[in-house]
Amino acid sequence: MKVIGVYNIKGGVGKTATAVNLAYLAAEEGDRTLVWDLDPQAAATYYFRVRTKVKGGGKALVRGKRALDAVVKGTDFENLDLLPADFSFRNLDLTLEDAKQPTRRLARLLRPLVSDYDCIFLDCPPSISLVSENIFRASDAILVPMIPTTLSARTLEQLLAFLREHDQLGELRVLPLFTMVDRRKRLHLDIIERLAEDYPQLLATHIPDAADVERMGIHRQPLPAYAPAGAAARAYRALWEELKRKL
Ligand SMILES: Nc1ncnc2c1ncn2[C@@H]1O[C@H](COP(=O)(O)OP(=O)(O)OP(=O)(O)O)[C@@H](O)[C@H]1O
Ligand SMILES: [Mg+2]
Repeated sequence: MKVIGVYNIKGGVGKTATAVNLAYLAAEEGDRTLVWDLDPQAAATYYFRVRTKVKGGGKALVRGKRALDAVVKGTDFENLDLLPADFSFRNLDLTLEDAKQPTRRLARLLRPLVSDYDCIFLDCPPSISLVSENIFRASDAILVPMIPTTLSARTLEQLLAFLREHDQLGELRVLPLFTMVDRRKRLHLDIIERLAEDYPQLLATHIPDAADVERMGIHRQPLPAYAPAGAAARAYRALWEELKRKL
């Protein structure tokens, strides 16, 4: 089982779109795949048309009163399951604080799922918190979607500094990638070029800025399910291929 956290300190950079679309592609290839929606905003849960409600909320999960597999829901797609978000996840930090080994709790909760899934995607809320530390510990790799703006390098640097300080870089692979790329914008091209020099771990695939992706909220489906031939879906396929080579 591989656990891939999709994470950025920043909001609105394409984390949920990346997690949902890659999970769909993994499942389509036959991998038993799970998306864990850890964001109380529950966007991934919405895209999969699943109800956001976890009995007992985040507390019951973190305290082990409810096993994760009891909360997992099927989706409309074969091999693809969802652990839905719950509004109580907004307090997950506080709940984790009370737990034993508070930075390793999510990793521990995931352990019994090893034999059930080939691939688990964690759709993470934006912020840097105890939840994020848990995500870093639980993941084999974190994908860091970023829009090519002047601040993206700074945010990536903050993340890498945090991981170094907390000694969490160890086995964790940090794989940044550009999303919402507009190749007509000189600034986007300049930033992509500059960051590629500074960060050799940057993935080569770029996700273009595309209206197709925005329509996920209308279709309430992963992008490759309703616009498989478009440029954005092709980019997600290329990203999945690149990611498989890296993992
Ligand atoms: N490649 C893209 N092209 C155009 N729009 C996109 C693209 N990727 C995502 N979007 C849109 O940008 C918005 C933010 O995307 P998404 O929800 O995936 O980001 P996020 O990082 O998960 O946000 P949050 O931090 O709020 O969880 C959404 O409205 C989405 O439809
Ligand atoms: Mg999101």
